[in-house]
Amino acid sequence: MCGITGYVGSRQTDDVLIEGLCRLEYRGYDSCGIALAQKNGKLYLNRVSGRVQLLKNQVKERPPQHGMAGIGHTRWATHGAPSEENAHPHTDCTGELVVVHNGIIENYPGLKENLIDSGHSFRSETDTETIVHLIEAELKKICGGSFRKKAPAETLERNFFEAFRRAVSKLEGSFAVSAIWSRCPELIISARMHSPLVIGKGKDGNFSASDVSAFLKYTKQVYFAEDGDIAVIKKDSILFYDFKGNTLERKLTEIEWDAAMAEKGGYDHFMLKEIHEQPAAVENTLRGRTMPMDGDFVIRELGIPSYFIKSLEQIQFVACGTANHAALVGCRIFGSFGIPCFAEFASEFSDRAKMLNGKTLVIAISQSGETLDTIIAVREARAAGAKILAVTNTVGSTLTRESDYTLYTRCGPEIGVASTKAFLGQLASLYILAGHFAVIRGTLDDSQAEEYAAELVKLPRHIEKILADEKNIRKTAETFSKSEHFLFISRRFNYPIALEGALKIKEISYVHAEGYAAGEMKHGPIAIIYPGMPVIAIAVSSENLELVNGNMAESKARGADVLAIVDEKSAAIAKAAHYIKIPYVPEIFSPMLTVIPLQMFAYYIALSKGCDIDKPRNLAKSVTVR
Ligand code: G6P
Repeated sequence: MCGITGYVGSRQTDDVLIEGLCRLEYRGYDSCGIALAQKNGKLYLNRVSGRVQLLKNQVKERPPQHGMAGIGHTRWATHGAPSEENAHPHTDCTGELVVVHNGIIENYPGLKENLIDSGHSFRSETDTETIVHLIEAELKKICGGSFRKKAPAETLERNFFEAFRRAVSKLEGSFAVSAIWSRCPELIISARMHSPLVIGKGKDGNFSASDVSAFLKYTKQVYFAEDGDIAVIKKDSILFYDFKGNTLERKLTEIEWDAAMAEKGGYDHFMLKEIHEQPAAVENTLRGRTMPMDGDFVIRELGIPSYFIKSLEQIQFVACGTANHAALVGCRIFGSFGIPCFAEFASEFSDRAKMLNGKTLVIAISQSGETLDTIIAVREARAAGAKILAVTNTVGSTLTRESDYTLYTRCGPEIGVASTKAFLGQLASLYILAGHFAVIRGTLDDSQAEEYAAELVKLPRHIEKILADEKNIRKTAETFSKSEHFLFISRRFNYPIALEGALKIKEISYVHAEGYAAGEMKHGPIAIIYPGMPVIAIAVSSENLELVNGNMAESKARGADVLAIVDEKSAAIAKAAHYIKIPYVPEIFSPMLTVIPLQMFAYYIALSKGCDIDKPRNLAKSVTVR
């Protein structure tokens, strides 16, 4: 997730762009940059590796530019490490065209290869740079080889639009992209496909950005661009087109958010926003990495040799906190394909590390990629000869530098301390990896792989359905808001989700909650049940459903107030006082869904207690001490 911004109008363009980037820094801040048209038909381009303040210092000396178009970007790296070369805006070969982009261009390797073959030279490792060279190539075609010929402003603008339109029509993946061309210094063209883009209509000019926080200081009048929209933005006009060039009508909306609400997309907390971002986060994790049609799993960037995957004797997961719960689910997914797996808290790993060898793959899972316990565990595993695969959300993090292979979860920055969307991204990554390994090891044949991938790509829609049940989940949570103890139980794939449900409550509500393997109830936990104690059971369809049902009945018999997370098929069987119903999926995929109501449940309990949800007491987002 990156932030893009753009402005054309009579205000000082540098100031408006920098101000916008400061507001967008929450979307990522490893590098940033701006480009703006000068009066002499040239571009100013400034990029820095680091925060917006550095950029501000760099541009403050230059003469003010009014009336000219400018675009800006604050980056959260996905393709290519955080560096000045990879920072946006990116320019074409002529240095006259420039773009900023948020999203992932899936088909960039092929496009880039063709562009290089036809003489374009690339200066960054980003997928974004492909877009600007594509526009350049189209512009050259339209102008008959060279676009340096003099022409009336109207012709230049028409040609720029046409080249931009043709270029974005060739892109696959997700993008909110804005471009300027020094020959049309008062024009910004933006387009949207699966990444947010809002266009602001102001008194002293117009705006284009990833979200309204970038320009809220100047206007509350916005157009929310839709997928497949192109916006042509000038000082006094905003026009919308589709990718075929037909004009579109878009409705102007007056928003009522203040700046803090705008950053949170109108939600009260980042945690709730991030819970709602999960369908998009999972889509981003899966994008370009599953090919349901041919039953194959393709992870271009991973590069683990097939012979190593085939000869692997064991997988060892290491992680902390929520990431450790993803590891426990991972063990069960890989295990179901016959691959021996172990999971250990990174902080408890030392003794196991000594037992590893070159036939072990260690999968280290970490949202931040900076958790010290996880990094130390990886060092110990390497010393024993194991290969390391990092599953992380953070490009260029310490963990990636200390690992042999990396799979990025691509969820965008997670701000709420209690992890939600990063967890879903970790799970989705593990499904991709397990499918990939199982195909290579011959435990998943083509048609099974096709089915597996088809189930995976349906998950974002199922998650949306659960999110739409928010009111009901909130009501259920509120009935438990005075409880002082919670017990979460389940079996097999959902045992780690019981742990995660309990962790979420502890983290943000400061209430005692425990997750337990339902089968262990009889060995101790059942003794703590008192009348009215909440027992939350994940009781989705599986061969163990009757057993979970039995555990619920035992709890109920001792007076527990039982809440069951059920699916469309298990609802008729599970016996509880309260239910939250989710869509049915095969058990192996159910952790991706069962965790969603539990995140919301914890959120609404914390809300009714008035807790500081995004910054819970005593906790930190990234723990870099042992
Ligand atoms: C902290 C955070 C948790 C997170 C854990 C591991 O405790 O508060 O939300 O799960 O660290 O972090 P990582 O960045 O390694 O996933």
